[in-house]
Amino acid sequence: MANQASLMFNYIFTIFIIPMSVLCGASTEEKKAHIVYMGSLPKGQYSPLSHHRSMLRQTVQLDSSVETSYIRSYTRSFNGFVAKLTDIEKQRLSNMEGVISVFPSKTLQLHTTRSWDFIEFKITPGRNDQFESDIIIGVLDTGIWPESESFNDKGFGPPPSKWKGSCEGGQNFTCNNKIIGARYYGASRPNSSPSARDNHGHGSHTASTAAGNIVNDVSFFGLAQGNAKGGVPSARIAAYKICQPDGCSDEDILAGFDDAIADGVDIISVSLGAGGQAEASDFFNNSIAIGSFHAMQKGILTSQAAGNSGPSYGSTTSVAPWLISVAASTTDRLFIDKVVLGDGRTLVGKSINSFASPTTTFPLLHGTQVSIRCSVNDAMNCKPGCLDKTMVKGSYVLCNSYGGYSEAYNAGALGVVMRNEPYLDVADIVTFPALLLNATEHDLVLSYVNSTKFPKARILKSETMNDAEAPTIASFSSRGPNSITPDIIKPDLSAPGVDILAAFSPLATPSFSSSDPRHVPYTIMSGTSMACPHVSGAAAYVKAFHSEWSPSAIKSALMTTAYPISDAKSLGGEFAYGSGLVFPVEAARPGLVYEALEEDYIIMLCSIGYDAKKLQILLGDTNTACPTVTASPKDLNYPSMGAEVVPERPVNIMFNRTVTNVGIENSIYKAKIVTNSKLNIEVEPEVLTFKAVLEKKSFVVSVSGSVPVNSRLSASLVWSDGSFSVRSPIVLHAQSIRA
Ligand SMILES: *[C@@H]1O[C@H](CO)[C@@H](O)[C@H](O)[C@H]1NC(C)=O
Ligand SMILES: *[C@@H]1O[C@H](CO)[C@@H](O)[C@H](O)[C@H]1NC(C)=O
Ligand SMILES: *[C@@H]1O[C@H](CO)[C@@H](O)[C@H](O)[C@H]1NC(C)=O
Ligand SMILES: *[C@@H]1O[C@H](CO)[C@@H](O)[C@H](O)[C@H]1NC(C)=O
Ligand SMILES: *[C@@H]1O[C@H](CO)[C@@H](O)[C@H](O)[C@H]1NC(C)=O
Repeated sequence: MANQASLMFNYIFTIFIIPMSVLCGASTEEKKAHIVYMGSLPKGQYSPLSHHRSMLRQTVQLDSSVETSYIRSYTRSFNGFVAKLTDIEKQRLSNMEGVISVFPSKTLQLHTTRSWDFIEFKITPGRNDQFESDIIIGVLDTGIWPESESFNDKGFGPPPSKWKGSCEGGQNFTCNNKIIGARYYGASRPNSSPSARDNHGHGSHTASTAAGNIVNDVSFFGLAQGNAKGGVPSARIAAYKICQPDGCSDEDILAGFDDAIADGVDIISVSLGAGGQAEASDFFNNSIAIGSFHAMQKGILTSQAAGNSGPSYGSTTSVAPWLISVAASTTDRLFIDKVVLGDGRTLVGKSINSFASPTTTFPLLHGTQVSIRCSVNDAMNCKPGCLDKTMVKGSYVLCNSYGGYSEAYNAGALGVVMRNEPYLDVADIVTFPALLLNATEHDLVLSYVNSTKFPKARILKSETMNDAEAPTIASFSSRGPNSITPDIIKPDLSAPGVDILAAFSPLATPSFSSSDPRHVPYTIMSGTSMACPHVSGAAAYVKAFHSEWSPSAIKSALMTTAYPISDAKSLGGEFAYGSGLVFPVEAARPGLVYEALEEDYIIMLCSIGYDAKKLQILLGDTNTACPTVTASPKDLNYPSMGAEVVPERPVNIMFNRTVTNVGIENSIYKAKIVTNSKLNIEVEPEVLTFKAVLEKKSFVVSVSGSVPVNSRLSASLVWSDGSFSVRSPIVLHAQSIRA
């Protein structure tokens, strides 16, 4: 049901997704672009370009040449290249010395201001503006609109001295002291433009959410009026345009990481990933997992959108433990739209309808009343081609599905009232007066239309109202469990991702429909794409206070201070929201952090079967070895604790963890378990005493119980010293994927 909903949703509204490129045809001899991934750059004298070419020379078959196969190399932050390969050539390369993986360059999808206030993140004195302006967020997306007010550089000094990047945004693209760097990739792809200029809108939206200036009095045609602002308005932005109109390819994503890491960004924000029915792939066949691994090695945290394929279990493809995967929550601002019937009743539905409320009523006709060509069933659902242009003229149409939207628009109706079934929990921008009503309300309209000879209505302009239910996790937000390492809970964290107002590209239209004549500097979008930059901004905020912290320390701080979300309101519990809703102010003072460094991730990779040889190439270090005692991914020093267990059997799982005191000296933390499940949990020791800052203490959490089939039992551990509170979810699950 849910997947059907999102597919239909995309089809109708064509929002937040760049269509997947259609893989071209048939012949098995056809060469496809593949990434040959070779881990870290070797130390010392090494010429990657000539090495890559020589590998290709040994590989390509007689009827082709290195010149026609070779596409590009990665040489700045990790080692690898892209080439067009046949299956046989791919095999040969996979078996070559120094190669970790060879995988096709696929096309990934974008996971498409109030929100910062909602997470109690106000722009107040006491902020670390001085240090914040030294922070650089690298945004890998559809480019950026440099003339947007959100990226004006008034009051900004020159780029921080650590910046090693450059402005290569193409023709007519000028950087400034806010957008300090720009690059673009994939200029040979269909319909692409050789420029970092954002022609889609998504990249300007995400960049301004992470680090846009404070811009007063913006709105979407008067809706959601207020200030637009990023999480760290004083920080700098480097834009890497890795998406072109046909999508965001793995080879361009890796090129963006290769540059962003070497350019010296502090945080990388990627609001995209494999979407739809894609399965999470092995870490080293996954461009974002690879790129973020090398970013982690250089002290850069990557924040990635969890995906928009929810709510089925296992739908997230953002699974690597060294990045932070972000789910989308609602905020307390809800967009509604009303239809007033001829008999005076007002019904409340969903849409972002910017069109002024009419002062008079217009006829409201059911699909069956304005169709001569189609069966009753097709006509009532306003199927494509069913509505008669002359009959709908000057009238609103009532359709029994939301498939009626484009048909009513194309037929020239004045507006459309649709049925929100299966239920969608987001409002989207419409190109003409239109709204979705839930089944109950829609039935009322149907019976009204049936009961009167001249049914009439007025579709009003949208309004905002308070949503007392918030935060909940949007149904589209991709869920765990993690299909690669089920012991590591994903997504990690939630952030606002529903109806977010932020900067846009004037080249695009707010409904993403080419027939929409509107062009706006700020617009409203929904998606885990919008949630991700909230966490990127929050991570930058933490880093401004603690420039020396590792990516995992920042990630831990964000996770252990998150605000708990109610299990009852979000299908999937921790697999929907991870550790909870990001709470940036608290994240800057977490008290304790769970740190994991490169060597810890290597032990985890050993535990899931990567051999030492591959891991040596990954690190560029021949001394790398796997430990003799096999560990398990649950032993990774992660800020949440998860384990997949055999259902309906008593189990006893131990989690060993080590925390580092980043709070104050001479502090005493006591463990508290919060649970309403039947898990029996013990913590040993129950008290941790720290004399000094940066002191580490280890403890063991033993969890016993029996987990029913296809379910999850959860609790949380809170370490508290009376001032700091450090919370980790604990989840035992026997959750089958996509159930
Ligand atoms: C992914 O990686 C694994 C292990 O390296 C390999 O066996 C598999 O063929 C890869 N898949 C693709 C699609 O390349
Ligand atoms: C550069 O781009 C801006 C924004 O699209 C446009 O207004 C301007 O005319 C362009 N200048 C040139 C020389 O193309
Ligand atoms: C349908 O929508 C109305 C108005 O928003 C609301 O009061 C009602 O509870 C909803 N009904 C269902 C079944 O969701
Ligand atoms: C509307 O009327 C038609 C026939 O006139 C009937 O089939 C249908 O059930 C009615 N629908 C409602 C919701 O009353
Ligand atoms: C976890 O800690 C316990 C107690 O200190 C120890 O016996 C056990 O070996 C540890 N397990 C792992 C996987 O480190």
